[in-house]
Amino acid sequence: MSRSELKDSLRRPLRNLRLSVTDRCNLRCAYCMPEEEYSWLPSREILSFEEISALVDSFVALGVKKVRLTGGEPLVRRDLPVLVKLLAGKPLDELAMTTNGVLLGEHAVALKQAGLQRVTISLDTLQRERFHKLTRRDQLPQVLEGIAAAGAAGFSGIKLDTVLTRGVNDDEIEALLEFAGRHEAELRFIEYMDVGGATRWSMEQVISAKELLSRLSARFGVIEPLPGRGSAPAERFRLADGRVFGVIASTTQPFCSACDRARLTADGHWFTCLYSTGGTDLKAVLRGGASADELESVIRNVWEARSDRGAEQRLALRSRGPLASAAELRREPHLEMHTRGG
Ligand code: GTP
Ligand code: 5AD
Ligand code: SF4
Repeated sequence: MSRSELKDSLRRPLRNLRLSVTDRCNLRCAYCMPEEEYSWLPSREILSFEEISALVDSFVALGVKKVRLTGGEPLVRRDLPVLVKLLAGKPLDELAMTTNGVLLGEHAVALKQAGLQRVTISLDTLQRERFHKLTRRDQLPQVLEGIAAAGAAGFSGIKLDTVLTRGVNDDEIEALLEFAGRHEAELRFIEYMDVGGATRWSMEQVISAKELLSRLSARFGVIEPLPGRGSAPAERFRLADGRVFGVIASTTQPFCSACDRARLTADGHWFTCLYSTGGTDLKAVLRGGASADELESVIRNVWEARSDRGAEQRLALRSRGPLASAAELRREPHLEMHTRGG
């Protein structure tokens, strides 16, 4: 079998690597980090750029074509453009980053020059006070500057991610669409997910894709679904006025059957599903002196055995609440969404 044909037990290839470069974040979004205290990964455990590069080489050899830098907040990691430059030299179709935008104004030009191809920026509200309440930091102006700076630095195909929560920001659907249109960015509405970190999650607060689309069609008329989704989490739609937006319905319409993604934490733990409770400690393998071939063979074996369909299993539950309690998350921070890269 050729290397590019690696498939898991449900015949899904390994194409997409989400690379968390830090578990730290400079915001405290209510759907992700609502607690006062967190257990952080110890700094000696954090992978160096050289270690990350070596691990990425193994993933690339096994079929990964897209790498997305995530956090926590990736721009909190010092010298990130140095890592970007290292990764930009690898045979990838796409090198992207998901950021909260706060530090993007400072770093957009350096990231572009280092070879980053695309950015996705989280944007849940356009109201300064609401942003402050939602994230516990008064930094909406910096985020808006960051979005403008990304455009000015030459990034195209910018995406904006909005987690919709009932009673929190679902009155801003139109305003956010309008903002995205003005910035030539594509807005994606994300369903609030019951992942680790979301310790206050309840189904009542989820604005489902179905509800969102019916609200939008009541306002704007016919909505046309666009083809060509592939393994992407977002389904794309077009309004009658031509505006395109995406919906990521992980909570009510999971896309596990096409999931080709792996997640590597900043301390080198590899998770094959957003919802999986156990991972593979690739840092231990790497620091134990494994050769590139040995590393690849560990990854290959884990992927071949992979049967995860976490979001589908959550959907099948009769009653649904937060995946993990705050106490469990403190004991095992690898369960946190901010540790496994959003
Ligand atoms: P592109 O398709 O390349 O734009 O990337 P993306 O949509 O995977 O990236 P992004 O970081 O913007 O992800 C958006 C959101 O989709 C995440 O924050 C999650 O809420 C959700 N998501 C991403 N990956 C997964 C996944 O593997 N499983 C599930 N269930 N949800 C995911
Ligand atoms: N539900 C949905 N998306 C989430 N994110 C983090 N926590 C959640 C959650 N509970 C995603 C958002 C955010 C990114 C960094 O992580 O898309 O923009
Ligand atoms: Fe992939 Fe797991 Fe998300 Fe399903 S829940 S799409 S298998 S990461």
